[in-house]
Amino acid sequence: MGARARTVYRCTECGAEHPKWAGRCDACSEWNTLVEEVAAPRAVAGAATRRKGGVGSFGSGGRVVETPRVGDISGSESHRIKSGITEFDFVLGGGIVPGSLVLVGGEPGIGKSTMLLQVAAELEQRGSRTLYVSGEESALQVKLRADRLGASALRVSLMGETLLETILATAESNPPAVMVVDSIQTVFTGDLEGAPGNVGQVRECAARLMRFAKDRGVAVLLVGHVTKGGGIAGPKTLEHIVDTVLYFEGESSLDHRVLRATKNRFGSVDEIGVFRMTERGLVPVENPSALFLGNHQGHHASGSAITALIEGTRPVLIEVQALAAKAGFGTPQRVTTGFDARRLALILAVLERRAGLAFSSLDVFLNVVGGARLQEPAGDLAVAAALASSVHDRPLDAHALFIGEIGLGGEIRPVSQIERRLAEAAKMGMKHAYVSDRAVPARSPKHLKVVGLSSLADLFKAVAS
Ligand code: TYD
Ligand code: MG
Repeated sequence: MGARARTVYRCTECGAEHPKWAGRCDACSEWNTLVEEVAAPRAVAGAATRRKGGVGSFGSGGRVVETPRVGDISGSESHRIKSGITEFDFVLGGGIVPGSLVLVGGEPGIGKSTMLLQVAAELEQRGSRTLYVSGEESALQVKLRADRLGASALRVSLMGETLLETILATAESNPPAVMVVDSIQTVFTGDLEGAPGNVGQVRECAARLMRFAKDRGVAVLLVGHVTKGGGIAGPKTLEHIVDTVLYFEGESSLDHRVLRATKNRFGSVDEIGVFRMTERGLVPVENPSALFLGNHQGHHASGSAITALIEGTRPVLIEVQALAAKAGFGTPQRVTTGFDARRLALILAVLERRAGLAFSSLDVFLNVVGGARLQEPAGDLAVAAALASSVHDRPLDAHALFIGEIGLGGEIRPVSQIERRLAEAAKMGMKHAYVSDRAVPARSPKHLKVVGLSSLADLFKAVAS
């Protein structure tokens, strides 16, 4: 390795530059905000005014460059590299954009390496050369994973390396179409003193990979581990650098995984792709509703209700289960999984006040099936129906679903995209849909009876009959 570049420590709060690391920034007095970075070359200002042209590389030498009209630039968005893993391509907005930098975040063990090795294998299979850089695991570990994933995974080129300079030099010598770097927390540049994984290293390495991607037209897929608290380690700053951020999530105890875009310069965000982790890698789930409904139709107990959510642009049916049981001594419990506890408290209060259901001596457990999350108010009505069903120990119609927001007055309010939710319900074989009376569409899907409700009282009348 040549001489180390000169580095400085910059405050992430106020931008002040310091020659040495310190716990506190002299300029703004913030603690723990100094991050190491490569100092800008001192000669740049002089060189740029000399206008010599000629050699020159990144950032120095003041080379004269061409300035084409924007319209003359070749390439278009439609030229995307399809991995063939439909759900993955879909979340990206239709495939991988050449020269883009994509961050794939998720908790350790969720399946990021598995997913990207599968993507690499499919790309290779379809003739797009792929380089898989693993700093996380030994070559043997990668080989063992590939053995489980099938023959095409064995053809992926593998580099076990963590020094960024070596990675870039190797990739540059024979540029692949797509390069996977697993993970950003393990790579480091010799130009900075910090250990791999520290904020300065993560930022600098990501910035250089971005320049490499743009300059050579190589799509770079970066793995980033996310800590339990959210945020990709080497904080949020990374999300600003990259073009696209995908999050891979799910309960590691359950076998399905949800891939979601939270930032996308080349497509919409909040699209989801659902996968199942199997013995032979991840398998796309083409019909997420069937997965989230679990065995609802077979097993027909009280306290279970169905609703339709919009995940990104897709409607998905999910099942909510409530159990209200006589509380022991002391304050009754409210336990939720996949649902906001404050929202539950609100619905319980409205049910108590507007529908005369008493919960003060009952423990209440609420569970969204399949590890899904119910964050839309559209799910309120299903939660209320499930709670009432549990209190009375009377199962609801197994082919009914409930879509609507509950107001503090006990009124049922309409929600967005009702037609699409109803279409999904019809597709999944639902027979009755209970919605706000202000949301009943002029034409309902075939075989689905849509019932309009104005208040919780209407709901209880309708399901009792
Ligand atoms: P991995 O891709 O290593 O997770 P990450 O890179 O996000 O840390 O996936 C780890 C888990 O997936 C591990 O518990 C083993 C499991 N797994 C399967 O169940 N089936 C498979 O075919 C593979 C390759 C992994
Ligand atoms: Mg991994």
